Amino acid sequence: MVMVINLNIAIDKTANVGVLEKGNIYRYPEALTFPGGKGINVARALKTLGIEPEIRGFVSGFNGRWIEKTLVKAGFKTSLVRHKNGESRICYSIVENGGVSTDFNEDGPSVPAAGQKEFLKRFEKDVKKFKIISISGRTSPGLGKGFYSKMVRLAKKNGVMVFVDTTCLALREAVLAGADAVKINHYEFEEFFGKKFSEKNVAEFYSRHEKFGLKTIVVTNRNKPFYCCCLGKVFKIVPPEIKELKSPVGAGDSFMAGFIFSVCRGKGILETLKLSCAASCSDCGTLGAGLISRKAVNFYKNKIKVVEIGGK
Ligand SMILES: Nc1ncnc2c1ncn2[C@@H]1O[C@H](COP(=O)(O)OP(=O)(O)OP(=O)(O)O)[C@@H](O)[C@H]1O
Ligand SMILES: [Mg+2]
Repeated sequence: MVMVINLNIAIDKTANVGVLEKGNIYRYPEALTFPGGKGINVARALKTLGIEPEIRGFVSGFNGRWIEKTLVKAGFKTSLVRHKNGESRICYSIVENGGVSTDFNEDGPSVPAAGQKEFLKRFEKDVKKFKIISISGRTSPGLGKGFYSKMVRLAKKNGVMVFVDTTCLALREAVLAGADAVKINHYEFEEFFGKKFSEKNVAEFYSRHEKFGLKTIVVTNRNKPFYCCCLGKVFKIVPPEIKELKSPVGAGDSFMAGFIFSVCRGKGILETLKLSCAASCSDCGTLGAGLISRKAVNFYKNKIKVVEIGGK
């Protein structure tokens, strides 16, 4: 029912080193090692919430085999396109006490044309089986211009909802092709829209893109209040304080998982925003990205304030 697309899948390694200083050698007992990338994090959190998504994207090399095997072993349904270029990337998140993280993200291998064709062939063949498609993360090197437009158009043609969390050209293509919902953070908003993150500007973004099919935009801002525009209404959401902040990396991905879960369960926007924010709070209390617990989600759900602050 839900397809989660992560075009640039990675092996994610996360370790806490206490305090990070340039030029030091750090030894630590172990790093958390998971298949990663934003879409995989979304899928992981979604599974915890009770929805089994299908994961799609590209993998290559030994790293790609490890990613695929590990996902299957963890019980995920996958339809990954293997290609021959290089190795799927490895990304490091080095976390310090207090939750500050320094991330090292490889660009990843270039996806050959044949791999792109195979991905779109599969997508076109069975996209109509799904209710929601979520596309998360930056694009992969080598992906042709129009790749995101094609995916979104095919989905929309088949009556499938499309939620996106991406940036730059990929975001532009997705929105212009008719994406239903966008979840980005305040940096991504300012980079893309060229205007300061504010209630007024988020509403302006929404008004300008509604004609393409946009129904909801959420722009989060770490631990600070953030905004959502949905079907002409503007909401301000105030996240609660996190009990024990371990790492906020992936909080936005767990937010997306909560959003998908709520929409699948037919919840209204107020309930959806609370649950999504609660999922992101749960993620902040764990070291890994997309690692949440239902207990923590339920704990935070009633501590989130959502107020309607106007219409556009
Ligand atoms: N330091 C924090 N303290 C409390 N809550 C946080 C913190 N960081 C993130 N959150 C929660 O997570 C939500 C999403 O956070 P953020 O704006 O950092 O998303 P993001 O940058 O998209 O994250 P990522 O891309 O790493 O998944 C916030 O709206 C908030 O509810
Ligand atoms: Mg994000």
